[in-house]
Amino acid sequence: MNAEQPTTGLLGDTQQMSYVDKLNLFNHFAAPEIRHILGEFGLKDGHAVLDAGCGTGIVTSWLYDLVRPAGHVVGIDLSTPHLREALRQRSQAMAPLYVQADISSPPFQASFDLIWSTNAINHLRQRLEGVRALARALRPGGRLLLGQSGFLPDMMFAWDDRFDKDVRAACLRYYHDKYGLDKSDTTADRNLIGLLKQGGLKRVTAKTIVIERTAPLTPEDERYFVEGVFRAYWGHRLRPYLAAEDWEYLEQLCDPDSPQFCLRRPDFHHIQTLTICSGFA
Ligand SMILES: C[S@@+](CC[C@H](N)C(=O)[O-])C[C@H]1O[C@@H](n2cnc3c(N)ncnc32)[C@H](O)[C@@H]1O
Repeated sequence: MNAEQPTTGLLGDTQQMSYVDKLNLFNHFAAPEIRHILGEFGLKDGHAVLDAGCGTGIVTSWLYDLVRPAGHVVGIDLSTPHLREALRQRSQAMAPLYVQADISSPPFQASFDLIWSTNAINHLRQRLEGVRALARALRPGGRLLLGQSGFLPDMMFAWDDRFDKDVRAACLRYYHDKYGLDKSDTTADRNLIGLLKQGGLKRVTAKTIVIERTAPLTPEDERYFVEGVFRAYWGHRLRPYLAAEDWEYLEQLCDPDSPQFCLRRPDFHHIQTLTICSGFA
């Protein structure tokens, strides 16, 4: 791994930043949908692929499964802890290859058949610069895929629309106060088509997939919601942004030991989206 100067991205990213558990939880949760869509891009044995902002390398290894044994996959990321985890989980001795690098200045030119970058471009202060840099790393005719999951769940408390909206608004206010993000920052998936076009990519298209879960949940799904959403993103963070009775209700809904625990409700129905925008060099 190459050491780079620490930088601070829009969401506070630095080389030291770590949210390994959140990334592992989300990718294992959404594995069926992500693996399915990865299969739609015509990747074949021998292709060269870059995973830009690869996090803990879970998707990077799925990409490698599609191009092995002759192909190669490189994952780049800013975060040392995320890359360490990717290396720890790597099953092959030297593949995928991981490099510590900034998406905005990847150390590659005209090298890849496909670049996959999910939930990463929205971390950049200069998104267009990042897209242009990734486009330069594509070989002629290569494909750039930018993915963005919905910033917040589209539906979590299906039986109570007012409460669902208030929790969503509380999350947005939390992100505004913590990172100075405004509404346009938290709806970055709206810009991906425009970014690809401004970045000079051709034949730009979009596809949104829905990640949807209903009761009864698998233990893995339950673990993602409890540890990856309720504890990691919500919890006490939302308390200042909710009315006292709503905060108490939320605590009950998110507590596995409470009779009101939402994941055991027969009407539990969760929806979140993942938008993948594609363009060709
Ligand atoms: C939300 S995570 C997504 C990780 C991975 N793509 C996934 O889907 O699991 C965003 C990742 O982008 C990385 N990142 C943020 N800014 C970056 C930059 N300028 N250059 C490279 N990686 C960056 C973070 O360290 C983090 O691992």
